[in-house]
Parts: sequence; structure tokens; C-alpha cells
Amino acid sequence: MTKSAPRRILVTSALPYINGVKHLGNLAGSMLPADVYSRFQRLRGHDVLYICATDEHGTPAELAAQAADVPVRQYVDEQHEIQKKAGEDFLLSYDHFGRSCSDENAALTQHFAHVLEANGLIEERTMRQVYSVDDERFLPDRYVEGTCPHCEFEKARGDQCDNCGRLLDPVDLIDPYSAVSGSKNVEVRETRHLFLLQSQMQDRIRDWIEAATDWPPLARSIALKWLDEGLRDRAITRDLSWGVPVINPDGSIREGFETKVFYVWFDAPIEYIAATEEWAKAKGEPEAWRRWWRTDEGAEEVDYVQFMGKDNVAFHTVGFPVTILGSQEPWKLVDRLKAFNWVTWYGGKFSTSNKRGVFMDQALDLLPADYWRWYLTANAPEGSDAAFTWEGFQSAINSDLANVLGNFVNRITKYCAAKFDGKVPEGGEAGEAESWMVAELETRLPQLVQHYENMDFRKAAAETRAIWAAGNEYLTKAEPWVKYKNDVDAAAVGVRAGLNLAALFGIIAQPIIPEAAAMILDALGVPEDGRTLSEEAFADIPALLDALPRGHEISPPDVLFRKIEEEQVAEWTERFGGES
Ligand code: 2FM
Ligand code: ZN
Repeated sequence: MTKSAPRRILVTSALPYINGVKHLGNLAGSMLPADVYSRFQRLRGHDVLYICATDEHGTPAELAAQAADVPVRQYVDEQHEIQKKAGEDFLLSYDHFGRSCSDENAALTQHFAHVLEANGLIEERTMRQVYSVDDERFLPDRYVEGTCPHCEFEKARGDQCDNCGRLLDPVDLIDPYSAVSGSKNVEVRETRHLFLLQSQMQDRIRDWIEAATDWPPLARSIALKWLDEGLRDRAITRDLSWGVPVINPDGSIREGFETKVFYVWFDAPIEYIAATEEWAKAKGEPEAWRRWWRTDEGAEEVDYVQFMGKDNVAFHTVGFPVTILGSQEPWKLVDRLKAFNWVTWYGGKFSTSNKRGVFMDQALDLLPADYWRWYLTANAPEGSDAAFTWEGFQSAINSDLANVLGNFVNRITKYCAAKFDGKVPEGGEAGEAESWMVAELETRLPQLVQHYENMDFRKAAAETRAIWAAGNEYLTKAEPWVKYKNDVDAAAVGVRAGLNLAALFGIIAQPIIPEAAAMILDALGVPEDGRTLSEEAFADIPALLDALPRGHEISPPDVLFRKIEEEQVAEWTERFGGES
């Protein structure tokens, strides 16, 4: 069969804010699915570049540094390392985990601002901003809190209400007060800011979204809702000191903007490009980023996929595309955008600011990354919000991983060690049970691939589990342990097919549970180049049951998954709370 040509796939996941390690809800709705997808596409044989970074500017960074009582620069340096480690510990296979405070991002952000202004899409305007008389400063975004004008939540932040999720304008808050000092001595004053004229790009953006019929439905429906409401021009600078300075093309500070910087949401998505530059420099090929981002230099052939929570969709379907398209330069636009709903924590929200729920570092103190990766993928918040419960987590781990996958691998490898000297047995001919298994795989393996291609992660996990479950059913049909008593050759067929199935189960498990998958594949001695999910690897399905060389030595792996006990559930519920 002819080998299908590798594709180039660029993957980005929404950049986590720098203000502390992310909770499992953030992970499940951006970084984890992006990683699972990247791993899958690499295993298909494609050339994948997975880029992420910390989102280090804006009020989240300044306020968190202030709360920690350290200078912002020190805070972001420390937190970047902490988040980088949390990602590595969760086995997130970034090709590069960058920083939005990089020089590359500052230069690119300023470049975009200049071309957009030259193209008539940025304009300086006077606007009304909340000013704190006691703090002697304007209070942008999260620097001001108050009552939400939509839902009356009393601790709404100036940029967004945590309760109803609406984006807010700080001047619309009822009873505003300073988040810095708590002072209510605030007033609305006029100040100058740069505005991105999104309204002028309304038709262009609508045409693009309407043509994007192959996007998963959530992202597209959110984008269309924003378009229906009409795109508003947005201020893209803020009264802050930490951020990308607003300069003239000659490098001097723009007059009147000495104490202002670009809005974090203007420079953050640009960091997707800048982080790719950081990646290219780090590998000593400083121009290598261009073939991923410049459509005049090869990026036309790139499939660009973005992953994010639903609150980020507007910025990625309006703000960033206005920047890209409005520049009139040949930059790559996203091809498919996958958005997620929320993972809920006992009826409420996970929350970084209120420390509700389990955070990435805490999770790994309890159990290995694979356990969380499995549960959060199998229960991905795709069609609707998904509730995290300790009981649901326990049952997914004990049933899917320990019983269905772990027991299968242990049973067959131990039996092979006991009765066949730990070697893949020779002898016997495939029969009815093997034909049944082949038919299952012929239906299910293409479905699995399709679910991943569609970015339907729940379905991909469910199909993976269904294939593992079919293997258990196969062993019940083949009964090598019963046959062994009278017909060793007949038993050999079942053990051989069982070992090959264990290898296949490890191979298909790799995108979601890479560590356990590697343990299985190492125990079975599957060579690196035999671990792919490529079209060629799945071309001859009957051959999959006889792929390991006969006589080849295997060894039972260590315990793959430990069951979660009732006492652990009780202890964790007590420690992390299980009520809203
Ligand atoms: O909502 C958030 O967590 C933002 N830090 C996401 C930024 S995504 C990208 F545009 F940078
Ligand atoms: Zn609200």
C-alpha cells in the first residue's frame, strides 16, 4: 500500500494565566485535549508542532504579584517555572512552552499595532475609565470589582463576571471599589486609549466563520452569536505598567502612553506566533517558525487547530482574526477551533481565585497523571458542562483502567510467563474467536481514528475502552486456560492473540495515558517503530493478532493501575470538599 503523505499540524492551547497553577477544569478544556490530539497526530505519522505559553501580562499578573508581595518580574519568573513543571508532570508534550513577556512577543505585538494603525484599524479615542482617588490611578479590568449589572453577583471583576460569565466594561459595575485597596472612593474619568476597530471587519469575519463549516459546533455557535450582536470596537491599551509598551515605529514611547501598555488580550494570542519564534531560536533555526505561520512561506499547507474554554472563543474568533486579517499580511489563520464547556465542581465552578477544586500540582500528589488524563478525557466537557465527582473518578479508574485494561494485560502476560516460558507461543491456527475479534477491530479501529480526527474526545476514549472490553470478551471466547488442559496448540493461539491484543491496547492508549501505555509496550518488547497509529499500521487487521514475533520474550509489567479505595474517596472529599 502507498504511504500517505504526512501533514503539518500546528496545535495551540489557550495560554494559561500566570497567576498560579491551573485547576483540573482549565486542564480539561484546553491543554489536555490539545496534548491528546497532538500525541494522536504524531502517532499517525504527521509533523506536529504543539505550542503553548504562560499568559504573563495584564491585571491577573500584577494583582497576583501584589498578593504574593513580590515584584511582578520575580513573580512571573517563578510562576512560569512552576507551571512549566506542572505541565511536564502532567505529560503535556509541548514542543515549546513559551512566555508572553518575551522580547519576540513585544516586537510582534508592536508590529501588528503599527500595521493595523497604518491600515486604519486602530484609532486613538477618549474613553471613560474608573479612577481610584485614594490609589491615585485608573483601575483597569480586574483592578476594579463591584456588582454585576447582569446578574447582581457582588464580586464581579471589571472585565468579566465569574458568576454569569458575561464580559463587562468596568464602568458598568454597580457600587465599584478598588481591588488594590478596597477603597470605594472611585470616580469615572476620561483618558486616551487605542481602539481596535472591530466593527469595520464585521463582514470579513462573518464570511470567514460562515465558511468554517467543519469546525466543531460549540466554537462556531459562540462566534456567530457575537457577530449577531454586532462587533464593537475595543480598547487595546490599559493604564498599567506591566505589559508591552506602546511605541512609535521609531521606537520612542507614544505620546500620552507613558504609563500605558497593550491590553493582555491584544498581545496574548500574538504569543502563539511569538512562542513559535522562541521555539525556533531555541533549536538554533531562527527562521523555522515562518513555515508554520507565514502563508507565503509554506504555512498555507499547515492545518492549524486551536483548543480553548468557551470563554476564550470571542477573542479567538473576533479579536485575534481582526489582528491577523486586518494586517493584510500573509499570516496563518486558525483552520479549526475546538472549544469546551466547563468542568463543574459539585454543582459550582472550579475557581483559581477562590481556590475551589483540585489543582494540577495537588492532583499529582494523589495519583499519577494517567489517572487524571483518562478521567478528564473520557468525561471531557464537550456537549455540555461535565461534573467532576470523586465517585465518578473512582469508578472510571477502577472499572476502565484497573479492571478492563489492567487486568487484561496482567492476566495474559502472567499466563504466558507461567505456561509458555514468557515467550510468544508458536503453534495452532486462528479460528472462530479470532475472526470475531478481527471483525470487532475492523469496525472499531477506523471509528477510533475518526473520533480523534473529529476531535470528539469523549467518543475517542469510549471507543478505546470498547476495544479493550472486546479483548476481554475475546479471551472469554478463546479460553486458552481451559484449552491448555487438552490442546496446548489451541491454547497457544489464544495466548498469542491475547499478547498481541495487549500490545495493540497499549498502542491505542498512548494519546490519553502515555505512561501506562509505555509500561505495557515495554513489557511486551514492542519496538519504537512498531508503536504507531499510522494508516499502514492498521492496513492489515488480521495481521495485528500475530504481529509480535513468535518466540519473542515478554515480561509481565508491574501493577499498571491501583484501584481507588473507598477510604481514599472519603479522605479526598474531606480534604478538597465535595460540596458547592
Ligand atoms: O482565559 C485565559 O486563561 C487566558 N489567559 C487565555 C489566553 S489565550 C491566548 F489568546 F493567549
Ligand atoms: Zn454576572
